[in-house]
Amino acid sequence: MAAENILTVEDLRHQFGDFRVLNGITLEIPKGRLTALIGPNGAGKTTFYNVISGKYVPTGGKVTFDNLDITGMPSYRIASLGLMRSFQITNIFLKLSVLENVLVPLALHYGKAFSCVRSLAGEKDLAEKAMGVLDQVGLADRASRVALELPYGDKRLIEIAIVLAREPKLVLLDEPTAGMNPEETERMIYLIQRLSKQLGTTFFLTEHDMKVVFSVAEYIFVLHQGELLARGTPEEIKKNPAVKEAYLGGSLDA
Ligand SMILES: Nc1ncnc2c1ncn2[C@@H]1O[C@H](COP(=O)(O)OP(=O)(O)O)[C@@H](O)[C@H]1O
Ligand SMILES: [Mg+2]
Repeated sequence: MAAENILTVEDLRHQFGDFRVLNGITLEIPKGRLTALIGPNGAGKTTFYNVISGKYVPTGGKVTFDNLDITGMPSYRIASLGLMRSFQITNIFLKLSVLENVLVPLALHYGKAFSCVRSLAGEKDLAEKAMGVLDQVGLADRASRVALELPYGDKRLIEIAIVLAREPKLVLLDEPTAGMNPEETERMIYLIQRLSKQLGTTFFLTEHDMKVVFSVAEYIFVLHQGELLARGTPEEIKKNPAVKEAYLGGSLDA
């Protein structure tokens, strides 16, 4: 029996004015499989994520998430159904502690009323849940540190923790290692791999570093000028002449 798909995209189109950025994308993401979307700069990857997560209403096509038609739904509704994205830029509260950064979205998720962020730490269930998430991403020992003080790589981990706190079914990660040094990159990739195996969450990521993509992804889609150029296992993609051509100059030998 074929694996169940968490996401199905059919003939997805998007244009800004007359500029067609997505030109009829059809793909599906099986539950639990660590999948990557790659493609040269400007291929349309971020736009694709923006459309499926509800930031933009597509100009055409259909998006089905967990057997529900989510085409054109606003992003907050899509997120509440369990499809969440993290951002290429960091998106955390710098003046709050690491723990508080996770507590706030948790409180919102569980509909807790709160008048002051600091009082949230007194909510025992929430605090335990938040610590559990920080443990999953390896930040438990820095829970009380102010986010601002942490190195860039840790800030990106907070972002992952904020997303995971809401127990998503599918997480879109747009260049999770952008701007990281090699050590931070390795840590992030190892983490995503581990989370993908441990949690019931499916990860779908874009990544510019081919070495990283080929080592971590179980399946890869290649986007080029708004169209799907290729799809396959890392081995198949590495050998694909059309993909090599699209990355002209950029080596695919990882
Ligand atoms: N809001 C926008 N308005 C107009 N053009 C855009 C907008 N966002 C992206 N684009 C254009 O769409 C194309 C795809 O961009 P993007 O999705 O960011 O690609 P990628 O993430 O693959 O680098 C680029 O040519 C970009 O300039
Ligand atoms: Mg992008």
